[in-house]
Amino acid sequence: MSKLYVIGTGPGDLNWLTPAAKEAINQSTDLVAYGLYLKLLGELTEGKICHEQDLGEEIQRAENALNLASSGKTTSLISSGDIGIFAMATLVFELLDTQSKPEWHDVDIQVLPGISAMQAAASRVGAPLGHDFCAISLSDLLTPWETIEKRITCAAEGDFVISFYNPVSKKRDWQLQKAKEILLANRPGSTPVILGRNLTRETEAITITTLEALDPTQVDMLTLVMIGNSESKVIESTPANGESKQWVYTPRGYSKKLI
Ligand SMILES: C[S@@+](CC[C@H](N)C(=O)[O-])C[C@H]1O[C@@H](n2cnc3c(N)ncnc32)[C@H](O)[C@@H]1O
Repeated sequence: MSKLYVIGTGPGDLNWLTPAAKEAINQSTDLVAYGLYLKLLGELTEGKICHEQDLGEEIQRAENALNLASSGKTTSLISSGDIGIFAMATLVFELLDTQSKPEWHDVDIQVLPGISAMQAAASRVGAPLGHDFCAISLSDLLTPWETIEKRITCAAEGDFVISFYNPVSKKRDWQLQKAKEILLANRPGSTPVILGRNLTRETEAITITTLEALDPTQVDMLTLVMIGNSESKVIESTPANGESKQWVYTPRGYSKKLI
């Protein structure tokens, strides 16, 4: 049976690629992805037919992967992070649902998860996702801004830790400022904010700041922005002989059990 692997390759560093994803790539003859993601895979792409498609060509990429797989080629469709989170997996199933292509239904599809940017960012600073959280994409290219604004407002009122994906791009520079204003109406200016840029990649940069001090002009499309809830805390740990380090965590309620 023809096979399509739908793979999330994690935030970038190959040590964060799951063994299952690596095995699926090894078994594939054809890889379909945005060029940067193929570049991040390095030697794993050797000997494979690489179908690079640009940003904005998501529909063509998913169609191409389904067509290659249904023609008998073991194919991997690849996104960074988790392919089910603001990525290509959903498009594969939307095409399957809406297009009259009976041959696509013969393809054996396997979705393999990856570590998402919010998990990578959280791990770098401690445990900010320790209690209820949500993820919101600030891209209004496919979703009307009114919908996004409503979700931010509800998440703010619900006191969720919020991970903002796609916070800013060259064409979208005001949404993060607007999100900041909505959140400031619901939580203190001192609320911890984490900026994770290029997580696990060569130029990784982690910044811990506050909601009040969050400067959207310092954020770009390679950044994950995480806003703590009203209980998230920044602590400083100072080893006897080392540099002090800041950690962020969101308590789960154990304080009642701790003496
Ligand atoms: C289209 S979404 C893809 C998300 C991806 N599927 C995931 O699970 O991480 C792209 C956004 O994810 C975030 N992102 C993805 N990889 C990242 C990384 N290595 N470092 C920081 N942010 C990242 C950024 O907010 C970026 O604008």
